[in-house]
Amino acid sequence: MVNIKYKIIIFLMVSIIASSYCVAQLVPMIRQSKVEHIDTRSRINFNTDWKFFLGDAAEAKSAVFDDAKWRKLTLPHDWSIEGPFDEKNPAKPEGGGLPTGIGWYRKEFIAPANFKERIITIEFDGVYKNSEVWLNGEFLGRRPFGYISFSYELTKYLKPGKNVIAVKVDNSAQPDSRWYSGSGIYRNVWLSSTGKLAIDQWGTRVVASVQKETNSAQINIRTRIKNQWLNTQQLTVVNSIYDGSGKLVVKSTPKAVRIAVVDEEVVSNHSLNKPILWSIENPHQYKLITELIQNNKVVDSKETLFGVRSFNFDAKAGFSLNNKSLKIKGVCMHHDLGALGAAVNTRAMERQLEILKEMGCNAIRTAHNPPAPEFLDLCDKMGFLVMDEAFDVWKKKKVSKDYNVNFTEWHKRDLQDMIKRDFNHPSIILWSIGNEIREQFDSTGIAITKELVNIVKELDQSRPVLSALTETVAAKNFIYQAGALDIYGLNYNHKLYKDFPINYPNEKFLGTETTSALETRGFYDTADSIRRWPKDGKTKFIEGNSSWAASAYDNVSAYWGSTHEETLKEAKKYDHVSGIFVWTGFDYLGEPLPYAWPARSSYFGIVDLAGFPKDSYYLYQSEWSHKNVLHLLPHWNWPVNGLFAGKQEKVIDVWCYYNNADEVELYLNGKSLGKRSKQNDELHVLWKVDYEPGTLKAISRKNGKEIAVREIKTAGKAAKIELVADRKDIKADGTDLSFVTVKITDEAGNLIPNADNLVQFKIDGVGFIAGVDNGFQASLESFKANYRKAYNGLCLAIIQATEKKGKIKLTATAEGLKEAEIVITVK
Ligand code: GAL
Repeated sequence: MVNIKYKIIIFLMVSIIASSYCVAQLVPMIRQSKVEHIDTRSRINFNTDWKFFLGDAAEAKSAVFDDAKWRKLTLPHDWSIEGPFDEKNPAKPEGGGLPTGIGWYRKEFIAPANFKERIITIEFDGVYKNSEVWLNGEFLGRRPFGYISFSYELTKYLKPGKNVIAVKVDNSAQPDSRWYSGSGIYRNVWLSSTGKLAIDQWGTRVVASVQKETNSAQINIRTRIKNQWLNTQQLTVVNSIYDGSGKLVVKSTPKAVRIAVVDEEVVSNHSLNKPILWSIENPHQYKLITELIQNNKVVDSKETLFGVRSFNFDAKAGFSLNNKSLKIKGVCMHHDLGALGAAVNTRAMERQLEILKEMGCNAIRTAHNPPAPEFLDLCDKMGFLVMDEAFDVWKKKKVSKDYNVNFTEWHKRDLQDMIKRDFNHPSIILWSIGNEIREQFDSTGIAITKELVNIVKELDQSRPVLSALTETVAAKNFIYQAGALDIYGLNYNHKLYKDFPINYPNEKFLGTETTSALETRGFYDTADSIRRWPKDGKTKFIEGNSSWAASAYDNVSAYWGSTHEETLKEAKKYDHVSGIFVWTGFDYLGEPLPYAWPARSSYFGIVDLAGFPKDSYYLYQSEWSHKNVLHLLPHWNWPVNGLFAGKQEKVIDVWCYYNNADEVELYLNGKSLGKRSKQNDELHVLWKVDYEPGTLKAISRKNGKEIAVREIKTAGKAAKIELVADRKDIKADGTDLSFVTVKITDEAGNLIPNADNLVQFKIDGVGFIAGVDNGFQASLESFKANYRKAYNGLCLAIIQATEKKGKIKLTATAEGLKEAEIVITVK
C-alpha cells in the first residue's frame, strides 16, 4: 500500500513536469517531421495446436502437466456435436439430445520476444460455458455466459520461451438451455499485442449522423485510450476515414491530449461530405484509422469499419432506412450451423445468409443471445439489418440451470460488453434486452427493465432498445410498464396487429417473433383445416404421424403461432407494423416441438437444418423479393406409403406460389387444368388434381406474356447419384467449405422425392468431411461420419479445405445406384 502511494506521488510529479513540456511541443513536432511507424498492434489467430480432454482434469491448469495423450485439435471446437445422440443425455431432446459435460483445453506457445514492453492479451470470442482460464498455472478469470466475448491480459504471468494456457469449460449443469448450445471453445481465439499506450479493445465508438439538408454526415468518434505506463502520457490522436474504394475522405488535424494512468476517452467530431449511405442494396462501409502519435512515432493504429445510415421507427408509418420506408422482412436465427454444431465457421454462416438473402429476407434477429462477431461482419457486408439480443432469461428461469444462475452477478458486465463489442456494426438497428422474459408478468420487471435500458443508453443513444414481449395486456405487462422501451416488440399474436394503434396509441410496433409453423422438407399431408400442434398448453400432444414429420403444405403450426401465410398476410396489411422476424430462418438443433424422441431438432425453419429450402421458402421469395417466382408443390410421385399426400383418395392438392404475373395455368400431361390467380389477400393458388403420373407443368403470365415455366415429372426408378457443389473453388485456409448436395435421381435426372438410400462418401486429396446431414429432424445418425441416408431424395456432405493447395475428390456410392464424383479445387 505504502509502495503504491509512493509510486503515485512520483508519477504525478513526473507527469506534471512532462505535460507542461509536451503540450507546447507536440503539435509543432508532428508538423515538422515525418511520423515513423513502429510495431503498433497485432492480432493473430490463436486457434491451432490446442490439446483437448473430455472430462475433468483439475491438475491440467498447472504449467507442468502431461497432456501428451490428449487429442490435438484446431479451434473453433464443439464437442457436443461429435455425439452420440441419446435421449438420456442431460441436455435432453430440447438441448438436441447431445452430450455436454466438462472439457479441458491446453495450448503451449512461445511468448512474443518483446513481450515485456508490450501488452499481450488473449481474446475469446465465446466459450460455452463457465470457462476458467490459467496461464502457467496462474488464474486469469472465469466467465459464465457462453455467448459473450471476453479477454485476459497475459503480460504479468508470461515468461520468456514456452508458456501454457489452460481452459476449463464446464457445461455440466443441465438442462441449461431451451435449444442446442454446443460445448467448448466454439468461437475463434486471438492473441493480440499492443504497446503500453493503446486504444482499448472495443475502445472505438463511431456514430454517424446524416445531415440531409447539407448532404453530409457528422462523424462522432469516441476513442478510449488505455495507458499502462506509470504516468500520464501526452500524445496526439489522428483520425483518417477512407471510403470503400480506399479513397481518403476525412483527415483530422492532430489532436493533442493527455491520458492519465488507466484510461481516458477522447472525443472528436468530423464532417463528411456527400456520404455514401449504407443500405440493404449497397452495404457501403467506411474505414476509420485512428492513430496515436507520440514523439513522432505512431504508437498505435487501429482500424474500425462503420457505416453511415439513418433509420427511424414511426408509430404510423413503420420502419424507414435512409428516409425510405422499408418493411423489415426478418427471420430469427439460433447460432448453430447444423452438422457443424456451434463451432463457428464464417463460410457456413455466409451460406446461411446467402440462402436467406436469395429469399428476400433483409433482417436477422440473433435469437436469443449475442452472436459470433463474424456473423455481424457478414451482415454488415451483405446488407442485413440486425436485432442484436442479449438474454433469454433474467432472474427467473425457463430451465433450471440457465442464465438465471448468473444474471445477478453478471448481467451488467455481459450487457455492456455486448454493446461495446457490437457498437460499430451498421447492420445493427435494435438492441433487445430479452426474449419473453418471465419478469414481464410481475412487478419485479419494472426495475430490471429500467436498469438494463440504462446500461444500454449509457453506452449508446443512437439505437432503440426493446424486449420481445408476449403479455398482450398493457396493464399486466411490467416490462412495458417500466416505460423505458423505445419500441413495442410483440411475439406472435398476429391477430392483434390490426388494432395495435388503438390499444397502444403512439407506440412504435415490431413483430419481434412470429409464426412458429412446423414443416419437414418434402413431406406432404393434406388437411382441411390448419393443425395446431400442440392444440393448447394443457392437452398432451398425441397427433402427428409415425414418421416424425410435419407437412410442408404450410398447414401446421404451434398453437401460439400461425402458419407462414396467416402472419404474413397481417404483417403486409398494416403500415404501422415495422416488420416481422419469422421463427425461424433455418431449422436449428434442439427444441423438436411437438414431437418426442427421436426428434432432436426444430421443425420451425423456412430452410431445413442441411440448408435445403422447404416449400414455404418460395412463398417468402414471392412476397419479399423481385425475382420471378413460380413454385409448385408437392412432388409428383404418388402414392407414398400407399397414400396420396396423406389421403386414400387419389386427389392431390397442387399449390403454387408465384409473383410478377396475373395468372398461372396448370397442365397435367399436356392438358390444361385451368388458370388461377390469387384473389384478395391470397398468397398461393390451388388446384385439386386427379392424380395420374406424368408431367405437371405451370406457366405464369402477365398481360398474356409468359413470365416463368415450371415442370415436375414423375420420377422413374432410382438409378444414380448426382452431386452439386455450392462452390467448386475454395480457399486453402483450413476453414473454407464446399457444401455438396447429394441427389438421388432416376436415369433421366428427376429427383426421387422419397428416396432414403444410404450414401457412402470417400474423399481423396487436400480436404476432409466436416459434416453430413439430410435435414430430417428425427435422424439419430451422427453428423460426423462418411455416410448418410438420403431423406426425401437429398443429403449433404460438407467438405472442408486444409491449408494445402490442390484438389479434393469426393466420391458418393450407394447400393444399386450409379456412383458419382465431384472435384473441388483448393486454391
Ligand atoms: C417462442 C420462443 C422461442 C421458441 C419458440 C418456438 O416463444 O421465444 O425461443 O421457443 O417460441 O415456437
